[in-house]
Amino acid sequence: MIFKQRFVKSVSLALCLGAAMASPHVLAKTFRIAVGDAAGSAQHQLGLKFSEAFAEKTGGKHDTQMFLNGQLGDEQATVNDAAMGLLDFSILAINNVTPFSPSVGVLTLPYMMQSLDDAVALTQGEVGQKLVENTIRDAGVRIVGWTYTGFRVLTNSKKPVHSLDDLQGLKIRVPNNEIMIDTYRAWGINPTPMAWSETFTGLQMGVVDGQDNPYITVSSMKFDEVQKYITNIRYLFSIEPLVMSEAVFQEQPEDVQQAILEAGKVATEHSAQWLVAQEDKIKAELVEKGMEITEPADGEKAWIEKAVSQVWPKYYDQLGGKEELNKILKSLGRDTI
Ligand code: MLT
Repeated sequence: MIFKQRFVKSVSLALCLGAAMASPHVLAKTFRIAVGDAAGSAQHQLGLKFSEAFAEKTGGKHDTQMFLNGQLGDEQATVNDAAMGLLDFSILAINNVTPFSPSVGVLTLPYMMQSLDDAVALTQGEVGQKLVENTIRDAGVRIVGWTYTGFRVLTNSKKPVHSLDDLQGLKIRVPNNEIMIDTYRAWGINPTPMAWSETFTGLQMGVVDGQDNPYITVSSMKFDEVQKYITNIRYLFSIEPLVMSEAVFQEQPEDVQQAILEAGKVATEHSAQWLVAQEDKIKAELVEKGMEITEPADGEKAWIEKAVSQVWPKYYDQLGGKEELNKILKSLGRDTI
């Protein structure tokens, strides 16, 4: 009798352990979030708000742990890890998602977004919903939140850059993103693709002279220590999604899935407000630390003209065709192409 009870207990225990091992995420209470940027970044803010809202919406049953500064790998590598279910979440720049899901490139098309309002309209409207679906299909990750980080400005260690002539001869780091590489080519230089995790060292060692990223990112990554000059260009409004492994998402019960989606919305709204409250302050701090800000000559006319005429046509097909882009432009109240 005692033997029978022990046997039943052991079998039950084995079954429980077996079930836990077969679907490890069902029991997990702490979801891991990879964050490409450092503390104080817009990515970090989004992660904090998401974590708070998620814990609250699950009544404290689940929580998250953030790993800042690329501790869990370079941003592009985290997309692969999440796709394979090895990582739960990642917060990363949209330009580092595009190589895995080309249609997302619409958010890195130069001068497509001209304001925070454009960025919000695109990500939270029909276009954003389509990109969420495409990213699940192409990359195995689900976008559950959006960070708004502001326009990417050009920084360098050599000289003030007003015009495209000034840009010539500078070695500029870009992410491994075809549209951004082509944009710099349209501006007359051959940029250097480099992983985000190697960028600070690349700038410090003089492998490259400059890069572009928003003011908030320049500050949180301490680029002011290795860069002197900023050119206030507005070719890309930086969007940095919170992506979740679709495999891990599908393993969650419905109430947890719901909590994730709702927490993502809360964090997204917070991100837009945080940007508005922080950007000017951070820009002023960079100047106090010794950075010099230059406005592009002639209202950036030559930069815009070259990027739009040379880069856009090359990507019409990849981005769903000219008609699709015209629909987006119309929805933003802009002239069609
Ligand atoms: C990049 O330049 O690769 C990204 O914008 C980096 C980031 O996540 O801030």
